Amino acid sequence: MNDSNRASSDAAASTQAEVSEEIRQIAKAYERDGVEETQPRLDYPPYRSSVLRHPTKDPHHADPEGIELWAPVFGHQDVDPLEANLNIQHRGEPVGERMIVTGRVLDGDGRPVRHQLVEIWQANAGGRYIHKRDQHPAAIDPNFTGVGRCLTDADGTYSFTTIKPGPYPWKNHRNAWRPAHIHFSLFGTEFTQRMVTQMYFPGDPLFALDPIYQAITDQRARDRLVATYDHDVTQHEWCTGYRWDIVLTGTHRTPLEEETEA
Ligand SMILES: [Fe+2]
Repeated sequence: MNDSNRASSDAAASTQAEVSEEIRQIAKAYERDGVEETQPRLDYPPYRSSVLRHPTKDPHHADPEGIELWAPVFGHQDVDPLEANLNIQHRGEPVGERMIVTGRVLDGDGRPVRHQLVEIWQANAGGRYIHKRDQHPAAIDPNFTGVGRCLTDADGTYSFTTIKPGPYPWKNHRNAWRPAHIHFSLFGTEFTQRMVTQMYFPGDPLFALDPIYQAITDQRARDRLVATYDHDVTQHEWCTGYRWDIVLTGTHRTPLEEETEA
């Protein structure tokens, strides 16, 4: 639940209208500036806790050590294929809309990221995490923990069977609700490609109101976090299907190329 950073009680006094107006002003300024941004802003005041915890010094590029250009290696015995099914971890079926979410993991050059770890965590259908800090009054589902993992195959494809998570309230401002989402953690072909992000569902009415989603100021970049409904993934009388591809960026520079550049 890494987006549940609890904002201060002062921030909780803001209304949705106030936060929405801040979002609108920042979006307007972004359009005016005309400089494309593809990543979330780390300092995005409508997302209250980002103000205090974002880096205040410019990042310094550090040339990766050799070890960082190596891929983490996972053996077949390290991740059981059953761990990709979040619906079979308990005695019964979880409540909710059963679904498959699948896609390919590609590097910045369009190559499949093979045999790498994809981890997900999510709320249950009622928007509740199994986490003691999540105390909002929605039911815990005894048949759903909300954690799964798998390895990508030779084509870079991952696939999870789970249930659709519900939206949930958080304390960024008064009546703040997160759009339904699944958290993803990925290892790329280099340790430096490690990425943690969130996948959303198409047409969520909470998109415009959510400061985390809106912290990505570019609409096209935001769209890349939204899965598409795919009827070819949907299975007859069993579950719905969503597709979401992930592109890991990375320099892919080998030590040899660095020497050449120098
Ligand atoms: Fe979350």
